[in-house]
Amino acid sequence: MDSRAQPRLAVLASGGGSNLQALIDAHARGDLPALVALVIANRAAAGALERARRHGIPAAFVGRKQHADPDARILELLREHRVDVVVLAGWLALVGPQLLAAYPERVLNIHPGPLPRFGGKGMYGQHVHAAVIAAGVAATGPTVHLVDERYDEGPILAHVEVPVHPADTPESLAQRVLREEHDLLWRVIRDHFCANSSGG
Ligand code: GRF
Repeated sequence: MDSRAQPRLAVLASGGGSNLQALIDAHARGDLPALVALVIANRAAAGALERARRHGIPAAFVGRKQHADPDARILELLREHRVDVVVLAGWLALVGPQLLAAYPERVLNIHPGPLPRFGGKGMYGQHVHAAVIAAGVAATGPTVHLVDERYDEGPILAHVEVPVHPADTPESLAQRVLREEHDLLWRVIRDHFCANSSGG
């Protein structure tokens, strides 16, 4: 990557894509000197694909049924779009070794709870928030970490605390955490992957 250039991001998102939107918005505001250059979803109906198209960002659906080797197809797309950093935002599949080897320490994930306690296989979405409430902890909050070949286990880059209220449901907690995710993800990308975070 040219150190003067803005890093080119690929966002892998199979859900609604509100975190993707937060990155697009942060870039448009001038807060994030990194460009969303590609969006990939593994569900054809993912809201993230629609958001990407609305902003003129190349968007691809890579399904397990459509592609014998989805990771190879994803890698091909990343290369085609000269992607520097891969951001998993609501991507539920494991990332294959081929892709991790091609992007060492350049694949990150946002998780909606504290790690390692509320992570691992099956710990995603409302399962995380339900487990947090069941554990009776006073605080939760999103975690951004580098990705390795296991679920939610790579080095942690940032975590923000969000209080758990006695009346919280998994849904109410998810909303409060998601708001913090939107403010956290672009900051982590700016601080860790942008050469000159003060712009210029
Ligand atoms: C977020 O809560 C993120 O932490 C988790 O999946 C959710 C994605 O939400 N990995 P969205 O698709 O960005 O709205």
